[in-house]
Amino acid sequence: MSEFQTVAKVGDIPSGEGRAFPIGGILVAVFNTAGEYSAIRDACPHMGASLATGHVEEGCVICPWHAWRFSVTDGTWLDNPQSKLGNECYAVRVEGDEIQVCRPAEEEPQAEQTDETSPAS
Ligand code: FES
Repeated sequence: MSEFQTVAKVGDIPSGEGRAFPIGGILVAVFNTAGEYSAIRDACPHMGASLATGHVEEGCVICPWHAWRFSVTDGTWLDNPQSKLGNECYAVRVEGDEIQVCRPAEEEPQAEQTDETSPAS
């Protein structure tokens, strides 16, 4: 079941910039493009840089580490749009002066690794 969660107030994210917010166990990057808000997963699918800190221009964010470009609206990897490698996107709405993001499902905690080569005690 989807659920919208308030992450910021209108005015907290300057136009042409992004900010990262914890939601649903992950960081979500919320971008303000001339007053239109959009949200994608903050972690770059290449090596995990924060996309919220990237430069935003013409509907895309440029990853601060290796300059891969992603759509701020749907997470498409714009350098190779046919690739399945992209980033998740999330619904955003403005209610009054609150920016709300549709909360992704809670991430499952990673199962602990067991060392099966250890001798039994
Ligand atoms: S970490 Fe984003 S392009 Fe490498």
